[in-house]
Amino acid sequence: MNTRKSFETIHGDYRFFGSHSTEGDALRETLLPILRERTQKHVRWMDFGCGSGGFLGELLAALDRPPADIDLALVDVDRGYLEEAREAVAGFTASEVAVATAPEELAGAFDLITSKHALYYVKDLRSTVRTLCGMLKPGGLAIFMLGGKTNHLSGLWETAYAARNLPVPYFRAEDVAREIQATGLTHESLAVPSVVRFPDARENRLKFLRFFFAGNTAGMTPESLLPLLDPLAKDGDVVIDSACSVFLVSR
Ligand SMILES: C[S@@+](CC[C@H](N)C(=O)[O-])C[C@H]1O[C@@H](n2cnc3c(N)ncnc32)[C@H](O)[C@@H]1O
Repeated sequence: MNTRKSFETIHGDYRFFGSHSTEGDALRETLLPILRERTQKHVRWMDFGCGSGGFLGELLAALDRPPADIDLALVDVDRGYLEEAREAVAGFTASEVAVATAPEELAGAFDLITSKHALYYVKDLRSTVRTLCGMLKPGGLAIFMLGGKTNHLSGLWETAYAARNLPVPYFRAEDVAREIQATGLTHESLAVPSVVRFPDARENRLKFLRFFFAGNTAGMTPESLLPLLDPLAKDGDVVIDSACSVFLVSR
């Protein structure tokens, strides 16, 4: 599979994580004014690394645009997610939702390309950023969202891999910033803070760790990683401050 991390066995663990984070709401509030402006006319919109389609569906529901004005294309390496996402967003467009396991499979250019928390996991970041930006229409906008190296959430990767003298096996916001810069396209960035908070029970810690370290545990079992969360235990919960970088790239 063309990814650094397969989500196929961790859909439930990722859903647990998402449902205990304030990030979805915070990002939606940040993006809505931008998307409202961009969706006043007919738009062709691609979501790269769509997952279950939950976040995209919430954005589309809040935008409340006529379905005839929205064409949607979904990209994910995970075919189970692609089907789930297709169903989640089908009611927001009058046309058939296009689905693909790689952006190159989609024909034509896009007014909008969104990607939330997927660019960490691509095999080749430079070619992915170039491909996605190259698929924008003139005047189009790409919105790339992911965490950087310094927030507490990504810091867990830094701590766990550094303890084993290994580099973090994923890309972060700083890497994406560098690749966007290299395209020469106009861009700006925002930081959106959020918090992950869940009851501090062993099974909850394991759900989070299975999701967070899936596929790249370098011999670490989720059980062996449990103490990583000790410093984040607070008043009976695990509390992880996070921040998401939002890159707006214009063509
Ligand atoms: C953390 S989830 C984010 C899902 C969704 N965007 C959201 O915010 O809820 C990352 C997603 O990226 C997908 N992914 C990983 N590598 C990918 C790649 N090379 N191309 C496309 N999608 C990929 C995963 O299958 C997964 O659905």
